[in-house]
Amino acid sequence: MTHPWWQDAVFYQIYPRSFADANGDGVGDLAGIASRLDYLAWLGVDALWISPFFRSPMKDYGYDVADYCDVDPLFGTLADFDRLLEAAHARSLRVMIDWVPAHTSDEHPWFAQARRGVEDPKRHWYVWRDAPADGSLPNNWRAAFLGVPAWTLDEASGQYYLHSFLKEQPDLNWTNREVARAMHDTLRFWLDRGVDGFRADVVHNIGKDPELADHPEDIARIPHCALNDRPETHAHLREIRALLDAYPGDRCMVGEVFLLETAKVAEYYGKQDELHMSFNFPPLFAPLEAESWRQQIETTLGLLDPRGAWPTWVLSNHDRERHATRYGGEARSRLAAVLLLTLRGTPFLYMGEEWGLEDADVPEARRLDPGGRDGCRAPLPWDGSPHRGWNEKAWLPFPPDGETRNAQAQRADPDSILQLYRRLLATRRASPALRRGALRWLDAPANGLAYERVEGDERRAVVLNFSDARVPCPLEGAYDVVVDTRNRGEGGRYTGALEPWQAQVLRPA
Ligand code: NOJ
Repeated sequence: MTHPWWQDAVFYQIYPRSFADANGDGVGDLAGIASRLDYLAWLGVDALWISPFFRSPMKDYGYDVADYCDVDPLFGTLADFDRLLEAAHARSLRVMIDWVPAHTSDEHPWFAQARRGVEDPKRHWYVWRDAPADGSLPNNWRAAFLGVPAWTLDEASGQYYLHSFLKEQPDLNWTNREVARAMHDTLRFWLDRGVDGFRADVVHNIGKDPELADHPEDIARIPHCALNDRPETHAHLREIRALLDAYPGDRCMVGEVFLLETAKVAEYYGKQDELHMSFNFPPLFAPLEAESWRQQIETTLGLLDPRGAWPTWVLSNHDRERHATRYGGEARSRLAAVLLLTLRGTPFLYMGEEWGLEDADVPEARRLDPGGRDGCRAPLPWDGSPHRGWNEKAWLPFPPDGETRNAQAQRADPDSILQLYRRLLATRRASPALRRGALRWLDAPANGLAYERVEGDERRAVVLNFSDARVPCPLEGAYDVVVDTRNRGEGGRYTGALEPWQAQVLRPA
């Protein structure tokens, strides 16, 4: 059995505004990313997912795309992207970019044209409905972020257009074949440039109910994008998959399927003919408790493994409070790192989680994002200097404790959480069992989890104590400690007990 690279990989998400700033304008850029590739290679991740850097009016900070095939000047140029890609590949780092297929910016030339009038040839590239005579809206769908209707009136024509997010992000009409073809071309544009794949933004939202029927009243306050689950989308995904698979080199698409039931998410893998991978958000919302995670793991593997679908695991991203903040405290973040990097499936790290970063406390006056997500999007502190390796113009305040919680300080400290991530990544890379082995539960105490990962005759065990108490966690047979959140026991024999929030990766002795 050969395994595509993306099943073996650990991904690292870069939110480009906040990663690293090469031109000193206070906003991160593509050249900034290129300047930190040696760090990422040293850390030991395999692939990058770079959030949008395309031309955009930045109403939704790049998820409102005005040109899918160009770089926004804020981030650099296409030549900068080509250089970044080449430099990443030279370090064996794959690069996935963000593809935003469900909506454009209202400043995209397609929408500018569609807006010209009901007869315009691009009109039906978007979703329009006449204003009902009784002054109501075309249906009861809500937009994300502001709690407003998903419809905005276009005064000139008297018609409403649909937007699942901001009114500046009109939804594309994928039933129009011209739209599907144009969006396929945007994929080809980047595939031809050499990208390894895409993270597809709210991709479950491209197929729509042709009737645009109301949601049942009891759930109608939930944003439409968290409810949209349509057969039309699966047909679109099969075409997209065929397009990607026709390219050499195992190009990959991981979809953001923002439906909060893993059973629904599983459907988006199709019969290995839709998404290569999908994000699965229920674990991201689960508390850091042993029983809750046991259930998440069982549900996910139970639904995906039988259909040959490959799981993903995520604890933080640019849309949610960072998990260090949610879970509270570094001991928990260290345990979470062991969990994330030893489960069956592809892990996605969010930049800076390897330093234990928490959300920045952003004062009211500096908040920018309509979705209230500034805290997790704060610039990365690269060193302990007052401007943390940026300059005085950094676009948002930094995460807390930056004098010590920064790349430079953590790299110099063998006991840091950064060094723990690095050891975990190296251990995973060297172990077929950890990368792709089956997961089998072992006996564990209440508030603990123990499992083994098995591939051929290689075995690794993982033990985790989700509690403030020391707990016995005896295993059958003798084990040596390979990685320890407390960094003390590595190389020694497993004692059969765990300190509060301690987790270890073990190898049969
Ligand atoms: C999901 C993205 O992750 C989020 O940042 C964005 O605001 C919405 N999709 C809309 O594109």
